[in-house]
Amino acid sequence: MLIDTHAHLYAKQFDEDREEMLRRAEKAGIHRFYLPNIDSTSIEVMLELEATHPDKCFAMMGLHPCSVKADYEKELTIVEQWLGRRSFCAVGEIGIDLYWDKTLLEEQKDAFRRQINWAKELQVPIIIHARDALDIIIDIVKEEKDERLQGIFHCFGGTLEQAQSIMDLEFYMGLGGVLTYKKAKLDEIVRNIPMDHLVLETDAPYLAPTPKRGKRNESAYMSFVAQKLANIKELSLEEVAKITTKNALKVFDKS
Ligand code: NI
Repeated sequence: MLIDTHAHLYAKQFDEDREEMLRRAEKAGIHRFYLPNIDSTSIEVMLELEATHPDKCFAMMGLHPCSVKADYEKELTIVEQWLGRRSFCAVGEIGIDLYWDKTLLEEQKDAFRRQINWAKELQVPIIIHARDALDIIIDIVKEEKDERLQGIFHCFGGTLEQAQSIMDLEFYMGLGGVLTYKKAKLDEIVRNIPMDHLVLETDAPYLAPTPKRGKRNESAYMSFVAQKLANIKELSLEEVAKITTKNALKVFDKS
């Protein structure tokens, strides 16, 4: 059994074949899907998918850094209201993204910190989106770290030094399609990260792994990532599945 710790399966890219796509994932051995929220426009479709598959799909609540705009106070209020209304498996995805827009760094930092604190109060993990901002994020998490704060650095693509900082924080790193891209040069780094800090993900419909690169990504393709990790670690696929599933359940299942 495998767990997709990060998949936007409610996205409109799956409107035509969502149920078939979920069946393909099951056939590939993936039985749980954790759904990161983006902003107020994605909540309804995300909760609808979760309600249709309550034993498989688990919703997070949070404001994505790329959706931190001038009106972010309003967006954060919506997130806060939802967090008070029912339980969520995590606060996510949250973080900082300086790839598209650097002008809102202070707003992104503010939104990130406030959402971290809601996660601490609720004692749920945070799922972090970091793009061109990993060191800034690691510093903020260090400052906010206490025994209640843990989670996943989703789509990890940093250095071994950054991986060490993340492990010191007792966080996990999510590996997806990027692991299979030759140019990403992640093999050597991942080889040196102990298995007990790694989880698998797709970020579907984005970042499809080789040999599906460039296509719409879906959870079934996570098997290519699992196989790549097995090759890097010289482990069997079963061993990779067992350890990454155990790690994922440790993050999301507080019981
Ligand atoms: Ni995502």
